[in-house]
Order: sequence, then C-alpha cells, then structure tokens
Amino acid sequence: MRIGVLTAGGDCPGLNAVIRSVVHRALTGHGDEVIGFEDGFVGLLEGRYRPLGLNSVSGILARGGTILGSARLERGRLREAADNAEELCRQYGIDALIPIGGEGTLTAAKMLSDAGMPVVGVPKTIDNDISATDRTFGFDTAVMVATEAIDRLKTTAESHQRVMVVEVMGRHAGWIALESGMAGGAHGICIPERPFDPADLVAMVEERFARGKKFAVICVAEGAHPAEGTMDYGVGEVDKFGHERFTGIGTRLAVELEERLGKEARPVILGHVQRGGVPTAYDRVLANRFGWHAVEGVHKGAFGHMTALRGTQIEMVPLADAVVELKRVPDERMDEAESVF
Ligand code: F6P
Repeated sequence: MRIGVLTAGGDCPGLNAVIRSVVHRALTGHGDEVIGFEDGFVGLLEGRYRPLGLNSVSGILARGGTILGSARLERGRLREAADNAEELCRQYGIDALIPIGGEGTLTAAKMLSDAGMPVVGVPKTIDNDISATDRTFGFDTAVMVATEAIDRLKTTAESHQRVMVVEVMGRHAGWIALESGMAGGAHGICIPERPFDPADLVAMVEERFARGKKFAVICVAEGAHPAEGTMDYGVGEVDKFGHERFTGIGTRLAVELEERLGKEARPVILGHVQRGGVPTAYDRVLANRFGWHAVEGVHKGAFGHMTALRGTQIEMVPLADAVVELKRVPDERMDEAESVF
C-alpha cells in the first residue's frame, strides 16, 4: 500500500511521534510506502510531498512541532479538496490518507472521507476537547508547562503580595486550566464552561489576605468569560478560518482585579509556550499508539474512522462521533477542583 500522512491545524507536542510511528508500522510491519504532505491539506492540494523512510523519521520522537509543517486551510479550499478527493488519491497513487489534527482537521477529514477518499484520522490537540477520545496527546505536555508556571508564579506572587492571573490555552474548553490549576493549586480557576463573576474572585482574594495569605494565583483559560453584566468584556471576533480570536481575558481580568481590590495584580499569558518543545513521556506513548493503530486501521479498511483512547485501549471510532460536538469540562470535574469560579 501507499499511505499519505499529513499534520494540519495548530501544532502540538507528539505530532512527530505519530509520524514516526506511522512510518515504522507501515514500512516494517506491512511493507508499505509512506509519503508525507507538507503544511497539511495545503500540501495535498498543491502537490507538495516527500517520501518518508526510516531515516527521515529517525531522531524525531522527542522533538516538538512537526517535521511536515502544519497550516490551517481556508474553508473554500477545503471544498476544492473534497470535490477532487478521488482524483487526488489517483494523482498521488495513495491508497489511504492519515490526517493528524484537531477538530477542524477531523471535520475536513470527514468531508474528504464522505467524498470517497480512504481516510483514517488521528486526533490531536493540547486542548483535549475532542469528543470520542478520552485524551489527546499534547494535553499532558501543556498541563505540565502550565503547572510549572503556576508553581513559579506562586513564589514571586508571595514575595510581592500580588495577585497573578495566568492565562492558559483553551478556546472552548477549560481542560488545561482545570488540570494545571488543580496540579498547581491555583486559588481560582476560570474556564469557558462556567462564566465567572469577578466579585467572587475579589472575595476569595480578600479572604486570603485577611487570614494572612497575602497573595493569590488565578488560572484562567483564554476562552473563559465573565457572566453577563458582571464586567465590561467583549468576546473575540471570528477569523477567516472560522476560529474565534480572543481579546486577552488574562490581562483584562488582572486590570479589573487590581482596580477592585486596590492591590497589585499582574497578567501572565503563557500562549504558545504550551504548544512548543518536547512532549512528555505520556504524550509520546499515546502518540506512538495512535500512529500504530492508524496504520492497522488502514489495513483493516476502517476508513471514515479515527483512533481514540477509550479507558486504556485504543479503538477506532467514526469521525462523525468526533466532530459532532466538543468535549467540555462537566460540572462534576469542576466541583472536584473546588476552586473553579
Ligand atoms: O486549538 C489549539 C490551540 O492551541 C488553542 O488553544 C488556541 O486558541 C489556538 O490553538 C491558537 O491558535 P494559533 O496557533 O492559530 O494562534
């Protein structure tokens, strides 16, 4: 068989581990050929690809980013790809495509699959918000980075008797904020699933100061927002890829708290630091397993499906199940964390 692989959407630690695993399993397990398209679906449309042999993936297991490059595809060009799905396969002589990506990529993968392309997807996102899989690789790394930031912010916050507001990624779901906030012991956690009232955060900080703990760290997801009428805050605009752009809730909240509390507050925006660098061991293992199972899925003809972690097992689930809605933090998980506002 000849298998195409690509990485699309925002990058994520562990992508290279999947690519490596796909190549290893395909070449040594099945005697297949693998080609890698550059810059996601853009490379597929523009005919930019290269053969991937064992040496091309040597030494990339622990490397962040993606050796293939990644890009978001505008919706119009995606339609173009779907309209030419079968022709594209003939053109490159591929028997299957393994796209590795988040919700947008998996939606695109489903479109291509519906249009007749043999596709087996692999889910990725640091946000951990893809339905139908318990976890995505990249998430563990992002949580580790954000947790370390909270640990570090606590010591400087205490020295200066300040409130630190650390903004982490998570456009529509607050998994990173929830888990790094729990792991780092943030005094307040704000996530998109539950609009917060800044007055509650003020009360929490005042209570801490009153009992002698004269600092606080608040972990806020970039997609978190105040409850209506509680604070002046505009929601982001939608860009040409259909993604909401946020206007800096971390900074806005720090300013708001400083004004209401009359105490110093500082914002820290972690941003893409959470997406760069080496994946954790957990993410490497999950990425490896996804790659291995994606190739097996191709050989079993599980097209229109993607790899998913269910409990401890990797299963193939329909792409339709993954893109139907995002996986958001349930109330029970917020309650367990105790500091979600
Ligand atoms: O979806 C993953 C993610 O990291 C989000 O948490 C974040 O909002 C977005 O990507 C950032 O995208 P970009 O790299 O296009 O700025």
